[in-house]
Amino acid sequence: MTYYDEIAEGYEELHGEEQQRKIKLIKAELKKMHWNIKKEDTLLDVACGTGLTTAPWQCKRTGIDPAKKLLEKAKKKYPEIVWMQGVAEQLSFPDTSFDWIISITALQNFDDPEKALLEMKRTGKGKFIISFLKKSDKREDFIKKIKKYFVIVNKVEEDKDLIFFLKKSNLK
Ligand SMILES: C[S@@+](CC[C@H](N)C(=O)[O-])C[C@H]1O[C@@H](n2cnc3c(N)ncnc32)[C@H](O)[C@@H]1O
Repeated sequence: MTYYDEIAEGYEELHGEEQQRKIKLIKAELKKMHWNIKKEDTLLDVACGTGLTTAPWQCKRTGIDPAKKLLEKAKKKYPEIVWMQGVAEQLSFPDTSFDWIISITALQNFDDPEKALLEMKRTGKGKFIISFLKKSDKREDFIKKIKKYFVIVNKVEEDKDLIFFLKKSNLK
């Protein structure tokens, strides 16, 4: 059982407001950038948790997370979304499966963040929104890796997270 399974019951009470604030900010940025998520677009939320960050988008959504208990909550609340158990380092989808890949406040939780970034890049068609806790001691390394594998279109610093709006670069 993971740490997140253990705190599943209180997760939304603990982090709900904070995560909703981030989504509101992300939506405002997307509008400014003219990055429109269309109804028919496919979106994968990597480390979806209870679905707080998956549900607010008007498109075809899939959420993946290793924590079974968080996923149970997500399934109950949003039965219309596809939920899968799995890790970011090994996404069980073919190349370029999703129009959008998002991963909110999660990079710092992955065992192998670099592998996770490469998997997101592989399974995404082009646009990505990735954030992590800015207090993470791996912050500089994350930025370096993000720059290595993606083109940074926009970067926003909010209260807790650094949020990156990314496109695929031609480099591997
Ligand atoms: C801070 S929570 C964020 C969850 C959700 N994105 C949100 O904003 O509410 C971090 C999430 O990362 C997930 N996680 C931990 N290790 C992971 C891994 N290797 N691959 C994918 N998700 C992972 C946890 O289960 C947890 O749901």
